Amino acid sequence: MGQLTLDYTHALSDVVGPTHGIAPAELDALASASRAALRAVQARRTKDLRWLDLPFQAEVHEKVLDYAARMAGRFQNVVVCGIGGSALGTIAVQQALNSPYHNLGARGPLPRLFVLDNIDPDLIGEFLRQFEPSECLFNVISKSGTTAETTSQFLIFRDALIERLGREAHVEHLCVTTDESKGVMREIVKREGYESFVVPEGVGGRYSVLSPVGLVPLALAGIDIKGVLKGAADMDEICRGDDFYANPAQVYAALQFLMQTKKSKPMSVTFSYSQRLALLADWYAQLLAESIGKRKSRQGRDVFVGPTPVRALGVTDQHSQMQLYTEGPFDKWFTLLSVARSDYSITLPAAYPELEAISYLGGRTLNELFAAERDGARVALTAAQRPSVTFEFPKVDPHAIGQYIQCLEVAVACMGEHYDIDAFDQPGVEAGKVAAYALMGRAGFEQRRAEIESSSPKTRRTV
Ligand code: PA5
Repeated sequence: MGQLTLDYTHALSDVVGPTHGIAPAELDALASASRAALRAVQARRTKDLRWLDLPFQAEVHEKVLDYAARMAGRFQNVVVCGIGGSALGTIAVQQALNSPYHNLGARGPLPRLFVLDNIDPDLIGEFLRQFEPSECLFNVISKSGTTAETTSQFLIFRDALIERLGREAHVEHLCVTTDESKGVMREIVKREGYESFVVPEGVGGRYSVLSPVGLVPLALAGIDIKGVLKGAADMDEICRGDDFYANPAQVYAALQFLMQTKKSKPMSVTFSYSQRLALLADWYAQLLAESIGKRKSRQGRDVFVGPTPVRALGVTDQHSQMQLYTEGPFDKWFTLLSVARSDYSITLPAAYPELEAISYLGGRTLNELFAAERDGARVALTAAQRPSVTFEFPKVDPHAIGQYIQCLEVAVACMGEHYDIDAFDQPGVEAGKVAAYALMGRAGFEQRRAEIESSSPKTRRTV
């Protein structure tokens, strides 16, 4: 088991220049505020920030593993019905730790894992056309238990199951993860007798991947959740450390804050040089955007802050976004995800010795080429005075994924202190949910519906 590290050399002024790089003195100056930020976050771990302790909930982990063992070999497909924080972590970890072709190729006794994090009728309709509901286990995940998207998926799949299997037998095909007592999904669990898991108090959606929200579907799909949790626990130990320069979460949070406030870089690009890590960038995009993108400061002042997360994939986006990244506006900083050791080593066959433009590849490895492209991208960014940091994964394994998740969650919590906003609410998301309830005619939302109707444009202009 190796250690995830954060290399911030290429974010500093002595490497990318003083205009766009952070001066060591600027980092030093933020160190004591960073320590205070960390202490403020850690002081809440037994209160409202219980997500910090998720790697240590042994009883919950055993319950999840016991359920996965009981369900093993019984279903062709595990289907997550959930959205946002109830989906993105599972998608990212599945992509990182299962084969990229898991849902297509030979899986042995393991089920496919689908995360339906949308309600586009074409997505759901096609799923029903392609897959037999009686071969599926549906894991309905909603912390609030009221999200319209998830509830509507539940209604559709429950109905399809009852039609195929009857009222009694359908129960075994549903499992619900929701709040212990609040929300309509908990009420439904009681009425129907579905298997259920709890999203604990103090665990917001985007901080919940290491709770049953992520653990249940991942364990069902054969992922070593204990390895992920061990990595998170090991990183938690490091992230409690008061020594600023020994704590990657503190350093990353400080860099993010300085890049935006001192270097005018509102865009934070996560550039994964690993296909398997690519969707961690999607998970982080939500974590960063929902946590830090806020109108109000903690004192209630309008501040309108927040970095804009951007996702990119190496080498693919070198042939797409890189032009903009090296020559466009100086409004971005970059976080590269890099992997020291791949599972596969692939040698390029030697051929066409007389053709220099191809013969130099012969005998080298695809691994060398991939690393050269990654290092070349960093060289190009640095030469163009674009600051970057690199998270170096020793390899893509459960331990490293757990480390990354815990590190980034603590970092974002610390960013909340720097930006002086509440990193754990999401009024903007709730506003969208309320508008949808109103437009769908839900009781209690009549006034909002009237407001929406009266404020909608009177004239439509289309071409
Ligand atoms: O992070 C969040 O709080 C949100 O993205 C939620 O996860 C998302 O809105 C889904 O909410 P719920 O899990 O309550 O259905």
